[in-house]
Amino acid sequence: MKVIIDGLTCEAESGEYLLQIAKRNHINIPTLCHEEALAGLATCRICIVEVMDARQKAEERAFGQLNDDCGEKDDRKRKIVTACVYPVVAEIEVLTNSEKLRDMRKAVLTLLMARAPQSDAIGMLAKEYGVEQNHRWSSREDEKCILCGLCVAACDKMGTGAIATVNRGTTRTVSTPFEEPAESCIGCCSCASVCPSGAIPFTDLHGKRTIWNKEFELVSCSWCGEVIGTKEQLEYVGKRNGPSADVHGGEMLCEHCRAVREASRLKWVSQPGRTFA
Ligand code: SF4
Ligand code: SF4
Ligand code: FES
Repeated sequence: MKVIIDGLTCEAESGEYLLQIAKRNHINIPTLCHEEALAGLATCRICIVEVMDARQKAEERAFGQLNDDCGEKDDRKRKIVTACVYPVVAEIEVLTNSEKLRDMRKAVLTLLMARAPQSDAIGMLAKEYGVEQNHRWSSREDEKCILCGLCVAACDKMGTGAIATVNRGTTRTVSTPFEEPAESCIGCCSCASVCPSGAIPFTDLHGKRTIWNKEFELVSCSWCGEVIGTKEQLEYVGKRNGPSADVHGGEMLCEHCRAVREASRLKWVSQPGRTFA
């Protein structure tokens, strides 16, 4: 089916999310709480777009019911949706950067800035939309968390469930149980890597990773020395998926070195007179 985004006709599968279609066609829609590998949360509201049914619009245009040539000024005919969780099931026309949307995003960013004034990602977006720092109600001066929930979703997807959102109102935050090192945390850093506002600090120093007040032993690639993960993380994955394919003859290899080893092995066995053992 066809979807017209900012005047560009794009092909889409029924049920595909609007954000995916826009991305595939190099149309930028700002996002914060979206992560490809996780189910949509739609908590940040920054990816809002204006949507109108294309057939309805064509009919109304034919009967002269639209106010202007392209219908962009007819607000009543458009609905606001969050692109990251909006599945396209009919032909639609979409605006991603109208004046109305910019005003709405500005309002969203004003709230996010008030909540997390120390987040660089929010600061950059706020600057882009002309939002200035004003009153704030975060409980911490150095707050970066926008409470999007991505970190909790990532940890749940790992099956570890070591963190959750706790408290209410201005003291609402993400934490391990009782802010103590969580037994189930494996130091995988999935939470930190999906966080859109850099709110989860961790350090990798002298062979140790520290995250959520817990220290882990780091495991590095036997060939290149790059950090692969923590000992607890590799043991956990090994238990879930069976013995790790990374371990080979006592060696632990990173993805790149594994590919190099595989390529040289294939080259070796493909030489004349060689066969697979
Ligand atoms: S580092 Fe700990 S809290 Fe973060 S995703 Fe991994 S297990 Fe969960
Ligand atoms: S720590 Fe990051 S990922 Fe987690 S809720 Fe806060 S902003 Fe979202
Ligand atoms: S990216 Fe946050 S609501 Fe869509």
